[in-house]
Amino acid sequence: MKGQTTGKSHILSLVAVLGPGRELGASNRLLWHISEDLKHFKGLTMGHTVIMGRKTYESLGKPLPGRNNIVVSRSGRNLAEVLAGITGGQEVFIIGGAEIYRQTIDLADKLYITHVKAPLPEGGADVFFPPIDPRKWKEVARTDHPRGITFPFPFSFVTYQRIR
Ligand SMILES: NC(=O)c1ccc[n+]([C@@H]2O[C@H](COP(=O)([O-])OP(=O)(O)OC[C@H]3O[C@@H](n4cnc5c(N)ncnc54)[C@H](OP(=O)(O)O)[C@@H]3O)[C@@H](O)[C@H]2O)c1
Repeated sequence: MKGQTTGKSHILSLVAVLGPGRELGASNRLLWHISEDLKHFKGLTMGHTVIMGRKTYESLGKPLPGRNNIVVSRSGRNLAEVLAGITGGQEVFIIGGAEIYRQTIDLADKLYITHVKAPLPEGGADVFFPPIDPRKWKEVARTDHPRGITFPFPFSFVTYQRIR
C-alpha cells in the first residue's frame, strides 16, 4: 500500500530491532548481535534507499553497501527535505536511530520490527523506539525464532502496517 492519505507515491518503512522495553542501543551501539537479524535487515533494504541519523552513521562507520545511503545532520542534509525529495514508487527505509524514528513514525506506512526477548547488556539502554500504538498499527506478518544459531534468546520478525 502506498501513502494513500498523504498523496506520496513511495512507501516509507521503519526498520528496527527492539528489546522488551523498546530499547534500541547504548553508548551509540546496538545492544545485541543477531546474525539472523542482520540477514533479515539486508534482505529488506538491499538495493533501496536507507535514511539514517548522523549518530547511527557514525556507529556503522561506513555506508551500507548496495544501498543508497542518506545521512541526515542539522549541519548537513535536513530530514524533512530528504523525505520531501523522494520520488517514484519505491520503498524507502528509515534505519535509525532513536531521534530519527521519533520524527518519522507518524509519517511511516510500515514498520519492520525485530522484537528481542533477551536480557539487556550491563548498563542497559540509553535510546528507545517510540511506542507502537495498536490503534494505529496492525500486525500483518510475524516469524518467531526461539533462538538464533549463536544468539541464545527468542526473537521475532514482525511487520506492522498503518491502519488507514
Ligand atoms: N536497534 C536498532 O534497530 C537501531 C537502529 C539504528 C540505531 N540504533 C542505535 O541508536 C543510537 C543512535 O540513535 P540517536 O537517537 O542517538 O541518534 P540518530 O537518530 O542516529 O542521529 C541523531 C542525529 O541526527 C541528526 N538529526 C536529527 N534530526 C534531524 C533533522 N530533523 N534533520 C537533520 N538531521 C537531524 C542530528 O545530527 P547532528 O548532530 O549532526 O546535527 C542528530 O544528532 C545508537 O545507539 C545506535 O546503535 C539502533
